[in-house]
Amino acid sequence: MGGDASTAQTEARGQWSSSLGFVLAATGSAIGLGNLWKFPFITWNNHGGAFVLVYLLCVLAVGLPIMMAEILIGRKTQKSAVGAMKAAFGKRWGIVGGWGVLAGFVILSYYAVIAGWSLYYFVKTVGWSLSGFPSGIQLGDEFTSFVARGGLQIILSGLFLAATMGIVLSGVKGGIERTSRVLLPILFVILLLLLASALSMEGSGQALAFIFRPDFSQLGMSSVLEALGHAFFTLSLGMGAMITYGSYMTKKQSIVQASAVIVLLDTVIALVATVIMFSVIFSVPGMEEQVGASTVGMLFISLPELFYTTVPFGRLLAPAFYILVAFAALTSTISLLEVVAAYVIDERGVERKKATLMTGSAIFLVTILCSLSFGGWEALSRFEIFAGKAGIFGTLDHLAANWILPVGGFLITLATGWFMTREDAESELAAGGVPAWYHFGSWRFFIRYVAPVAVGAILVAVIFFGVDFS
Ligand code: TRP
Repeated sequence: MGGDASTAQTEARGQWSSSLGFVLAATGSAIGLGNLWKFPFITWNNHGGAFVLVYLLCVLAVGLPIMMAEILIGRKTQKSAVGAMKAAFGKRWGIVGGWGVLAGFVILSYYAVIAGWSLYYFVKTVGWSLSGFPSGIQLGDEFTSFVARGGLQIILSGLFLAATMGIVLSGVKGGIERTSRVLLPILFVILLLLLASALSMEGSGQALAFIFRPDFSQLGMSSVLEALGHAFFTLSLGMGAMITYGSYMTKKQSIVQASAVIVLLDTVIALVATVIMFSVIFSVPGMEEQVGASTVGMLFISLPELFYTTVPFGRLLAPAFYILVAFAALTSTISLLEVVAAYVIDERGVERKKATLMTGSAIFLVTILCSLSFGGWEALSRFEIFAGKAGIFGTLDHLAANWILPVGGFLITLATGWFMTREDAESELAAGGVPAWYHFGSWRFFIRYVAPVAVGAILVAVIFFGVDFS
């Protein structure tokens, strides 16, 4: 086997410094625009309560088991997405890893655009906090003209991608882990301050009721698919991100514990973000209609003004909030790029710096198109393949979250449940913190039956019976 050689190889690939290092990096990947921007707006679109409940079910019954499966595959093989699927299940399964690399490419290319908006609004709110919020300003119109400025959009998303590349090329420990170690604690503190402020507002009661009181008459099949897709998206599952991060883990760390912590933190943060936003929105009469008009822009149209007119300590909290969004996005974009870069590093033998610059630049080319899809370029902005998801941005987001990730996740759960021996899975899950037999037994039941049946059934229902692709 050549133990020395394989140790040397692992060190060259990079490794987390500790279990905490891995948990922080993976949590950083999970917590992102999905939690702060997307979850609130799809919860709004899908009328709250019942949707949230279905989403929580998806997280527990599908997300958690697949999280464990992905980390397990990565840690066992010590390879990134494509190599890991090949090594664990045979050459053909490499294509599932390749599917993931494609997903990372697609998601990062549009994700960087929204991430760029958070930078811009950070700068804007710093200005407003210092020199006063301009009265009579129409934030909706501001936003519409801002996103239509193609050149500016390209610069902002380009800056964000450049920062992402800078971190990824600094390596697993020195780049990715270090960034998450610094940014995540800041993120938690800012979020707690915002939560305290939001709960003191009069709309908080209504917000909590909207989020936690289910009304199933409001729930359609497409909402269920959206909840499932979002569970994959927010946990960074279905595309080998957790396989790749898991491959930098040592055998001394417990997969079960780490997965539980990551999933719990991600879920709590998504709910907290939603409570904050809806408390603010419900505190202002008439705001509901405004939000309904542009849920995508909720974060950038409805909120900025409210920080200055309604939120206690809003002048301090507004810039803090937008830097929080930027930080959360950054710890996610690095994981998206890492999946693509690690594939080129591991499978094509390209050195890390070069691989990062190559893949990052290629992604930027698609990002340019996405940057122009909010009015910067008519043809890219208007077309509609999926109802209500306009432009290349809307189309890619819908494709990635609702189709690419669930399909990838479905194949990963099939592979782990049915093509990995019980002994292999058990010994890998046990390493670093022995799971009791009932941990392993229930995980295996979920990964073999519950997760694939749930994902498969939802996909089939929507494809063959739902006919509602929106
Ligand atoms: N989880 C991130 C979010 O919620 C997005 C993300 C980062 C992601 N890496 C991923 C999604 C990998 C799927 C796969 O914002």
